[in-house]
Amino acid sequence: MIPSVLPTYNRAPLSFVKGEGSWLIEADGRRFLDLGAGIAVNALGHAHPALVKAVTDQAQTLWHVSNLYQIPQQQALADKLVAATFADTVFFTNSGTESCELAIKMARKYWFDKGQPDKIDIVTFEGSFHGRSSAGIAAAGSEKMTKGFGPLLPGFVHLPWGDMDALRGAITDTVGAVLIEPVQGEGGIRPLPDAQMKELRALCDAHDLLLILDEVQCGVGRTGRLFAHEWAGIDPDIMMVAKGIGGGFPLGAVLAKEKAAAGMTAGTHGSTYGGNPLACAVGCAVMDIVAESDFLAEVNRKAGQLRQALEGLVAAHPDTFEAVRGTGLMLGLKCKATNLDVVNAAYDAELITVPAADNVIRLLPPLTISAEEISEAVARLDRAATNLESA
Ligand SMILES: Cc1ncc(COP(=O)(O)O)c(C=O)c1O
Repeated sequence: MIPSVLPTYNRAPLSFVKGEGSWLIEADGRRFLDLGAGIAVNALGHAHPALVKAVTDQAQTLWHVSNLYQIPQQQALADKLVAATFADTVFFTNSGTESCELAIKMARKYWFDKGQPDKIDIVTFEGSFHGRSSAGIAAAGSEKMTKGFGPLLPGFVHLPWGDMDALRGAITDTVGAVLIEPVQGEGGIRPLPDAQMKELRALCDAHDLLLILDEVQCGVGRTGRLFAHEWAGIDPDIMMVAKGIGGGFPLGAVLAKEKAAAGMTAGTHGSTYGGNPLACAVGCAVMDIVAESDFLAEVNRKAGQLRQALEGLVAAHPDTFEAVRGTGLMLGLKCKATNLDVVNAAYDAELITVPAADNVIRLLPPLTISAEEISEAVARLDRAATNLESA
C-alpha cells in the first residue's frame, strides 16, 4: 500500500524534534551537529533569536493579505535587496523552483518585447539543478530528473559544465540567455572559477544575451559574499534566490536589472503567497544580519578554518576522501568511499552532512557556526571515516 506521504524521498531514519543554533536534537535525545542546515537553508542556524522575534511579532500582527494590496514588509525587503545588490527590482516567490519559473519567463518576455520572439533558447550546463518543476527539469536536462516526464518544455541547450568553447559554439540566433549556478550545489559543489565567470559575462555582453544566475544554494552569504558572483566582480541581469533568504521560512526571490525586467508588467506574473508579510518579515531579519560586512568577514574566517581542517582530514583518510572542493561555507568532500556510506557513518557519529552528485558529501553549516563547533564537526567526521575504514 502506498504510504500516506507520497514516497518521493529517500529519508534517513532520523526524526528531529528541536533545533538550537548549529544543533539538531533527535526524538531519542541525541544531539546532531548540523552541517546540512536543511540544504543551505538555515543560514542563521536553528531558532536564531532575531528570526524567532521577527516571525513571532509578525505572526501576532498579520500573516497574509495577498498581493492585491500594498505589503510594507515586502517593500522593505525589496528595498534592502536592491540597495545591497546589482538589482533594480525584485519579485518574491516561495521557493527556488518558482524563482526559476519566473527567471525563464522574464528572459522570454524580454526578447518577445524586443520583437525577437524566436530567441527562446537558454543555455544551461551539465550537472546543474534548478528545481523540479517542468521548466526546472527541462533546464537542467539530466535523464535522472526528466525520464518519464516528457514532453519537456523546449528551449534549452545543454552544454558540458563550464565549457566556454562549447558556449561560444552554441550561440545561435535563437539563443537569448545563459543560466548557470556560480557554484553548483546538487551537482557536487563545483564552483565556476572567477575567470570563467568574467568570460561568461563578457560573452553575454558581446552577443547581447541575458545572464541568469541561480544563487538559490550559493547565495545569501554562503560563499562569504552576499552573493557568490560578487567574487568575480560581475553582475547578472537576472538572479534566482531562495533557501537562505528565508532562514527556514519558505521564501524566494527573483532579482533583476530594470532592462531585463521591463516586460514583466501588471498581470504578466503573480503568486498568492509570494512575498507575504510573514515571509518578508523574516527575510528582512535575515538580510539585516547577513548583509553586514562584519558578519560576512566572520563567514570567511570560519570558512578558512573549516577548509584547512578538511584538508587535514583528507590527508589523514586517503582511502575515504579524495579532495576538498567549494568555497566559503559551501564545501564538499569528494569521496573515495561511496558518499552515502560516508553520510551514514557521519550520522552514526551524530553529524549531519548532505550527499551530492559526483560522489561528494556537502558541508553547508549554518553561517553562524562557531570555531569550536567547526573543530567538533571535523572530529566527528574523523570518527566517521575511522569507523568506515575499520568496518
Ligand atoms: C541551485 C538550486 N536551484 C534551484 C533549487 C530549487 O529550489 P527549491 O527546492 O526551493 O524549489 C535548488 C534546490 O536545491 C537549488 O539548489
